[in-house]
Amino acid sequence: MDLCSLIDRFHEIYGFGEIRKFFSPSRVNLIGEHIDYNGGHVLPCALEIGTYGLVRKRDDNNIRLASENFELKVEVNIEDLKYKSQDGWGNYPKGVIYFMKQKGYRISGMDILVWGNIPNGAGLSSSASLELLIAEIINSLFNDGRIPKIDLIKLCQEAENEFIGVRCGIMDQFAISMGKKDKVILLDCSSLQFEYIDININMNDCILVIMNTNKRRKLNESRYNERRDECKKALNIIKNYKDIDNLCQISIEEYEEVEKHIFEDCIKKRVRHVVYENQRVLNAAEALKNGDINRVGKLLVESHNSLKDLYEVTGNELDTIVEVSLEQSGCIGARMTGGGFGGCAIAIVKNDSVDNFINKVGTLYKRKIGYSPEFYITGIGHGTRELF
Ligand code: GLA
Repeated sequence: MDLCSLIDRFHEIYGFGEIRKFFSPSRVNLIGEHIDYNGGHVLPCALEIGTYGLVRKRDDNNIRLASENFELKVEVNIEDLKYKSQDGWGNYPKGVIYFMKQKGYRISGMDILVWGNIPNGAGLSSSASLELLIAEIINSLFNDGRIPKIDLIKLCQEAENEFIGVRCGIMDQFAISMGKKDKVILLDCSSLQFEYIDININMNDCILVIMNTNKRRKLNESRYNERRDECKKALNIIKNYKDIDNLCQISIEEYEEVEKHIFEDCIKKRVRHVVYENQRVLNAAEALKNGDINRVGKLLVESHNSLKDLYEVTGNELDTIVEVSLEQSGCIGARMTGGGFGGCAIAIVKNDSVDNFINKVGTLYKRKIGYSPEFYITGIGHGTRELF
């Protein structure tokens, strides 16, 4: 599907008239997993694939939502916005609309058609992409584009946390809104301070390959919220000995000293991952700035092993794809990315080895798992925006 065909579909569904066009990317995280909600550092970027949205204002308070990815059409009145499981994907826009209204932003009726080329359930944040798309549409159509991006980011996270019930951190929404072409974002999730780091120049003849295990993951069905509870438990114990607000405020040395006060092995493992992963992100950012791609690759592998053995969020499919990737010549590093339990992994691969890499990993993964993975080589792009 291209933008022209999407416009034709809009006309078919809603009739002729003026249309405004928006795009919101998906995201991938280079390193720093499961630490955004622990106040840690992350290194994500926005991708060139994402969600397109076409929209037209209406004269009433109804919002009609249609998608080219799902059969289901949803119609809601902005005075009556409740989570309903039968509204499926429509709950994401509804959640955003609900919170925008609650915060006093202007909003009235619209007809919306969306289409995404993000593989659904792949862990590339199709939900946050859709949330930011709707938030930007409301910002542009009814609020003269004056709402600061950071407020839209926080509001979309709130919608996901409170309306959908997934207690995600801020990484996805931040990366999707603030993405910049060819840059990764080093974000401190506790202060929200960030800096852009150029990725192309520093990749030294390597590219980022995204590998979809095709094992679908649904965040709200996974053990994501359970991990959050385990971290909270750990924080409450450590607070008796250190004056901290989040787990990433303790250094590796401080943690080694305080670990003896934690009795449950499982909780120890979780904190160990969090504390070391935070340091790995800072090291990776430094290495990337220095063009030391081999060091970045090593840190990616350490991150994966920690997510596998200590945080326990990988699973057979992600472990297999990373394992077979690392066996290939020209592969500098690989790891799962996103929430885990399925979804995508990433690999840094030498340009001249990419075709062979994809071939071999595809074959070996299929032999071991029984079905094929998919590979995406997509550029790193800008954040959510109106298209002119
Ligand atoms: C999901 C969440 C993010 C983050 C990652 C793990 O993508 O939405 O907030 O916690 O998992 O790093």
